[in-house]
Amino acid sequence: MKRFVIVGTQWGDEGKGKITDFLAQDADVVVRFQGGNNAGHTVVFDNQKHSLHLLPSGILNPKIVNVMANGMVINPKALIEELKKVNNYQLKISDRAHIVLPYHIDLDGANERSKGKLNIGTTHKGIGPTYTDKAARIGMRMATFVSKTLFSSKLKKLIEVKNNELLKYDIKPLSYKKILNEYQVYANEIRPFVEDTSVYLNRAIEKDLKILFEGAQGVLLCLDHGTYPYVTSSSPTAAAVPLNTGIAPWLIDGAIGVTKAYTTRVGAGPLPSEIEGELAEQIRITGNEFGTTTGRPRRIGWLDTVVLRHTKRVSGLTYLAVTLLDVLTGIDPIKVVTGYELNGKVIDTIPAEINDFSACKPITIETPGWQEDITKVKTFAELPKQAQVYLNLIESIVGVPIGLFSVGPDRNQTILLKKFVEEQS
Ligand code: GDP
Ligand code: IMO
Ligand code: MG
Repeated sequence: MKRFVIVGTQWGDEGKGKITDFLAQDADVVVRFQGGNNAGHTVVFDNQKHSLHLLPSGILNPKIVNVMANGMVINPKALIEELKKVNNYQLKISDRAHIVLPYHIDLDGANERSKGKLNIGTTHKGIGPTYTDKAARIGMRMATFVSKTLFSSKLKKLIEVKNNELLKYDIKPLSYKKILNEYQVYANEIRPFVEDTSVYLNRAIEKDLKILFEGAQGVLLCLDHGTYPYVTSSSPTAAAVPLNTGIAPWLIDGAIGVTKAYTTRVGAGPLPSEIEGELAEQIRITGNEFGTTTGRPRRIGWLDTVVLRHTKRVSGLTYLAVTLLDVLTGIDPIKVVTGYELNGKVIDTIPAEINDFSACKPITIETPGWQEDITKVKTFAELPKQAQVYLNLIESIVGVPIGLFSVGPDRNQTILLKKFVEEQS
């Protein structure tokens, strides 16, 4: 596979950053194709931990060209902060990506407050309002933002419109002058990176370069195929890549579904496999399950194979990359959700109506756990028998081969399976 997509198969934080960084070791280009700094991707190597929000996870490797594609929404201030933490990188930013402006962040907060108990629990990064403006055709494209002649007049018009909107929420109007002065500085810094990245990517494909498309969030947070309305405002599926990068759909070779060995979710919305109490706390602490972006404790659940089969169907998955397997050490038995009971009926798909999804009761099977430390294993065969059974069980219920698995946050704690290696060579 020359060009494949890294897809989060659950509700985000599956370890996409780690798997992208690992697989990028022999890639030429890494592309982020959606979302913004709502994402938090952790990459660990050489005893150093890097938290990335906007930048693609290839940014730490000077040989890789990193692309922020047209499907992204970019907060210029956050981008510049993040760029300060890296050096010796190659970066290209799409002239068609949309800009997150200060009023988007205010409106994100105001929308959430107005929803009261029904709030989504967004990251408050202005993501929803920026995509809303894009769809309403009142957004600001990167090309306009970095234009020396057009930015100021466009900003003036937009701030007039948005100040009226803010007024409805009793938020005081934003100063055009202040934002203009501040953001012109950002535009000057960002301008050298901006180009038509669709043109670049199509040329890279003609040269047969190896490209990874790094998803943010997870498919259950997809605007179309996720647990709406408790979703983000973009699509992390493999299908979103062509649209969000400007390449033809048939140029994608496959998708790697990054799958946490259990489930986590940050923010509101149903989680049928949810575990509460001591066991959840144990997993939260062992897995360090606190949001990379917001620091919020993540909710914990068993692995849900209804979710994984859903993702396989709506996104397409060529291989699974199972992460955080080590976190399950010492938990016995381990449960796996295989279906739901809804109004006395057994179902194995996700209902579209959120109230129905909330009413779903998990149907689980149990498999024996293991006690051995697995953080140093280098092959599948070195895993305790029960861990092997667990991985085989996932593979057979989901119907997608496991290509690699991970037993710790470090790049080295990643094990490729023979069939995956053979297919890549
Ligand atoms: P992403 O948003 O999908 O990139 O995932 P995050 O980086 O937000 O969250 C995954 C967390 O798990 C990070 O803290 C990673 O360092 C960590 N991680 C990734 N793989 C493993 C693993 O196999 N074992 C353990 N213990 N931690 C891991
Ligand atoms: P990565 O890429 C986990 C969740 C938020 C909220 C919902 C909508 O690190 O996996 P938004 O700010 O996008 O409007 O919030 O989506 N959310 C994530 N949860 N990981 C993420 O990204 C997320 N990005 C957004 O918590 O429930
Ligand atoms: Mg994350």
